[in-house]
Amino acid sequence: MREEIQNIRNEALAQLIEAKTADEVERLRIIYLGRNGKVNKLTKKLKSLKTQEKKEVGSLLNDTKDTLIFQIGKRKNQLKYGVRQWFDPTIPGKKPVIGHLHLITQAIEEISSIFEKIGFTRVRYPEVEWDYYAFESLNMPKDHPARDVWETFFVDSKKDKKYGQMVLTPHTSSGQIREMERIKNPPIRMINIAKCFRRELDASHTPMFHQFEGLVIDKDISIAHLKGTLDYFAKNYFGPERKTRLRPFHFQFTEPSFEVDISCGICKAKGCKVCKEGWLELGGAGMVYPSVLKNGGIDPQKYTGFAFGWGVERVVMMKPGLNIPDLRLLYSSDLRFLRQF
Ligand code: DAH
Repeated sequence: MREEIQNIRNEALAQLIEAKTADEVERLRIIYLGRNGKVNKLTKKLKSLKTQEKKEVGSLLNDTKDTLIFQIGKRKNQLKYGVRQWFDPTIPGKKPVIGHLHLITQAIEEISSIFEKIGFTRVRYPEVEWDYYAFESLNMPKDHPARDVWETFFVDSKKDKKYGQMVLTPHTSSGQIREMERIKNPPIRMINIAKCFRRELDASHTPMFHQFEGLVIDKDISIAHLKGTLDYFAKNYFGPERKTRLRPFHFQFTEPSFEVDISCGICKAKGCKVCKEGWLELGGAGMVYPSVLKNGGIDPQKYTGFAFGWGVERVVMMKPGLNIPDLRLLYSSDLRFLRQF
């Protein structure tokens, strides 16, 4: 009888593979597992066996029955839903890919939180702006050669008598007068972080970039306050061992004006291959020019102020451990590059 069971099992499995539709499989189920099916017929025969024999053959027959139930169910599903629909709930799920903030957005958040800790308020002003706020009110009248530094995009718009033409903000200094007009009565502690636009494109320039502009106006504000604020930022953003240095420079809207340098993180201002003479250039700063205060409606007899404007991309590139060879990579939308940060 053992042989008979084996034969039925092999025959059934072979026919199952051959079956082309779920109906055919159902027919096979009736032939083998139905009330008068082949398996049941053998079960009836068991009675005639001796006790020991009955036990062994009975267990073989049960195994065969279980196998056929499972295989018939599986084949039916395959034919009904297709192989891919066969659902295995134990397979681990696929995790959706989670993105993250762009490197520059992360830097903007870090910079604003550093300044917010010492009482600065983050503001944003229009990025399509009047010539007046971008240049004229900052001591750069039309046709002034100083304007050449800011390779400006002009918007093809109607000119306003007072405010002139529209431009894409070439620097965040355009927010200085707007902030004075908004606050009216100092103290002012502004950090304006926004997009800037200039007609430049190479490994260290993109036509769209970001600047952060600090402006502090109050009674008795001096260069010492400026230096203290810059040192505070340098230590918190770049690391506690970094120092800043002010180098005399010229801007139309500040007097005195400075370029701010930061000590090189590799050689600690001793001079090395990377920095050459120990210091790296960060950006501009100075004491707000009295006529600029006046343009913003603030009395220069009563108040003084300092300002600084630096590139976000520039400070990011100078962060220790980052080595980005080409600024354009930041805005190329290449996920292989962006996922690194
Ligand atoms: N706006 C200047 C630039 O884009 C940078 C700058 C210089 C900003 C001196 C300032 C400043 O606030 O005081 O080059």
